[in-house]
Amino acid sequence: MIFYVNGEYVPREKAAISPEDRGFLFGDAIYEVARFFHGRAFHMDEHVARMQEGLGALRIEADASFFPAVARGLLSRNGLDDADAIVYAQVSRGAAPRTHAFPPVGTRPTVFAFTRASDPPPPPAGGRAILVPDERWGRCDIKTVMLLPNVLAAQRARESGALDAILVRDGIAIEGTRSNLFAVIDGVIRTAPNGPRILPGVTRGATIAAARSLGLAVEERAFPVEQMLAASEVFFASTTLWTYSVVEVDGRMIGDGRPGPVAARLKESLLQQFRGS
Ligand code: PDD
Repeated sequence: MIFYVNGEYVPREKAAISPEDRGFLFGDAIYEVARFFHGRAFHMDEHVARMQEGLGALRIEADASFFPAVARGLLSRNGLDDADAIVYAQVSRGAAPRTHAFPPVGTRPTVFAFTRASDPPPPPAGGRAILVPDERWGRCDIKTVMLLPNVLAAQRARESGALDAILVRDGIAIEGTRSNLFAVIDGVIRTAPNGPRILPGVTRGATIAAARSLGLAVEERAFPVEQMLAASEVFFASTTLWTYSVVEVDGRMIGDGRPGPVAARLKESLLQQFRGS
């Protein structure tokens, strides 16, 4: 497996990051996960733009435009040119003796990336989710590697045999630990509006656009847990899952307990875009 570290493609054994890296010490880094099929990316421009915004928000002086070329370099070096694969890229504020405030001017950001084949899709029968309080910080729109609340919630889901957790704040169902959340409520596809409480997902945006082009009603309006539990469909949306139906939440059945037609149509539309058919 070949990794990319600071301008070089190196075998995994040689891929090294400093123990003083601020990504390691402070979670002082952002990341992206983009999806490729036959070397073509799904909405790469949006991943680059989101990474650039994240860098700007964190005041890390780096240019996200490295991502598409590095992704291609990784895919070809790892024999994944023709695969359905993901590319992960991370930029930290760099390595420097530990002190909370920014390191000396001129400290070079650490740029790290890898690729691997996409995980096999989860079972077509849909998944179960649990509700977990959203204990994340106030800027969930920045894709930082500071993911501990997501990690703990995902682990709670795993330990209860669920696919994922739905994070809940002030009674509102916000998003998954690694995906955005949609529900079909009174015939309208709803998802929380972009803002500091959610990640502005690339798949979320593509899903909304696909729904509109199919003539389906969409509203970017958050929904309380109770409305979600009464929805005809609930589904996650992310780079790794496309859309994926949630058929049970905290033991309560959603709709008729089976994946619904809206999530299926939207997934089909996203896959058609991705595969270019
Ligand atoms: N996660 N919300 C959160 C909290 C996420 O971590 C992600 C992505 C999304 C969906 O965003 P997108 O459609 O751009 O993938 C929403 C990635 C896949 C991850 O952490 O692995």
